[in-house]
Amino acid sequence: MAITMPKELTAKQLPQALFEMDGISRRQIEEHYTLYEGYVKKTNEIRSKLPNADRAAANQAFSEFRELKVELSFALDGVKLHESYFWNLGGAGSQPNQKTRELIERSFGSIEAWQEDLKATGIAGRGWAITAFDFDDNRLHNYIADAHNSYGIWNAMPVIVLDTYEHAYVIDYGVKRPPYIEAFFRNLNWDEINKRVDGLDIGEEPRAAM
Ligand SMILES: [Fe+2]
Repeated sequence: MAITMPKELTAKQLPQALFEMDGISRRQIEEHYTLYEGYVKKTNEIRSKLPNADRAAANQAFSEFRELKVELSFALDGVKLHESYFWNLGGAGSQPNQKTRELIERSFGSIEAWQEDLKATGIAGRGWAITAFDFDDNRLHNYIADAHNSYGIWNAMPVIVLDTYEHAYVIDYGVKRPPYIEAFFRNLNWDEINKRVDGLDIGEEPRAAM
């Protein structure tokens, strides 16, 4: 029986501020954006094939259905993480609001401690460093991902997303990641991050640590 699939995704247009950052160039962002567009196209392509894939032949070692499901996680997480990444940039001069500050402080002790840990996470990872709100303990955690679809922790929502693939900085910094991460922090769009946090019920106190 055919299943109903979601509507086609379309690549969102980047805000102008993304092209005017200090430390991450317009060319770097433009090249990076083409990769995001590619993940949007591949998500649509995979979703268009899924309804017709042979479910009766599903097999964990190899099957068309398995391959489509696995690569959907790569393509769609590529879309989601890049949108979170692009939109949490372009906000030089913005500040965390009271709720965001409180959430970071109760999760890490201080903004500085959060930043130091996210930077180390970004150096240790091969693809992404993600500050995510975990709904099970009402805290933020800095999680690592070597690829879009690796090591994700379930029931947690990305709040601040740092792309550490070389493609994110090679035009501006060659293979030197630390100065790119410094530029990332300088350009964080706290107005956007505040919006993400404002949408969360963060509770009174963190629950028992996970
Ligand atoms: Fe990327």
